Amino acid sequence: MKINQQAHWSEYWKQGYITSLPQDFSINYNGKIADFWRKQFKSINMNDSILDICTGNGAIALLCQGFLTNENIKAKVYGIDLAENFQKSVINNFPEQKTNSNKITFINNTPVENLPFEDGQFNIVTSQFGFEYCDWSKGAAEVARVLQAGGRFALITHNPESSIIATMSQERNEHEFIESLDFDSLFNEYYENKFAYTSFRRKIKKINKSILSYQEIKKSMLLENFLNMLSSIMASTEKHLITYKEQIFNFIKQNKQAYSRLLDLIDANNALTNLEQFVGVLEYAGLGCTKSGTIELADDIKVGNYYIFIKQHD
Ligand SMILES: C[S@@+](CC[C@H](N)C(=O)[O-])C[C@H]1O[C@@H](n2cnc3c(N)ncnc32)[C@H](O)[C@@H]1O
Repeated sequence: MKINQQAHWSEYWKQGYITSLPQDFSINYNGKIADFWRKQFKSINMNDSILDICTGNGAIALLCQGFLTNENIKAKVYGIDLAENFQKSVINNFPEQKTNSNKITFINNTPVENLPFEDGQFNIVTSQFGFEYCDWSKGAAEVARVLQAGGRFALITHNPESSIIATMSQERNEHEFIESLDFDSLFNEYYENKFAYTSFRRKIKKINKSILSYQEIKKSMLLENFLNMLSSIMASTEKHLITYKEQIFNFIKQNKQAYSRLLDLIDANNALTNLEQFVGVLEYAGLGCTKSGTIELADDIKVGNYYIFIKQHD
């Protein structure tokens, strides 16, 4: 499975989520994560500039702007991401975010490795579950370049020891199994009239049986969704299947994007098992690590690691 980061993240943000963990954080990040960020924002002064890299749909930028609005501090917040940003969908899902969202400058299709900003433009650069996805040395050089001397790079990264990773690996196995069933060829060939309706139904029944056997070993939401899709296909007449085509292809596409996003997350996590190297790359770029630790959710789940780097004076 080939990873196209820009496409699968854009597809995800298009749905109007604010966070990348919507099952845990339905609006924006809260609890210990929000506490960490509030601490960082406390040092922002009037007319400062803040840059949130790998902002996605702007979770941290929105937390920052929310803090500044509450405290009546006029500072400028920017958010950049390689993927597209969908603030219209965010505002549609969460209308209360509109005022803060409109105050932030979001820049799409922009990699951390090539930031469109002046040297020393920012007082603070933030990243959450983001910097680890980029080319570390190029990204670190760019973050160091756009920070002013004494400026801070505050970040929360994934935590490779987290139990979240075990869940992700399980999900990856399920996606692998689904890929092995090769829905693409089956549906493409059917809709290209390469075989008849009766033979299509036979093949669908066979696939349904394999998924049911897998489901017996390990219950999964992903497989349940596929079983539901197959049930509605089996309940459809030949005529109805024609009108159903777009929905089926969309379902398959969305699952492929989710698989690709999962592989991206697992890769970023795996890279972080070498923490010394991670910190070393940033220090080599002139960012001194002054603090680091773990952020845990209420039930002891390590959701991330935090780091504070300060740009050294020349
Ligand atoms: C897990 S999401 C995190 C989004 C948000 N910061 C959050 O905490 O929910 C990772 C984001 O990093 C972005 N990304 C990955 N590689 C990037 C790069 N090289 N430059 C800029 N953004 C990148 C992806 O497009 C995606 O939106």
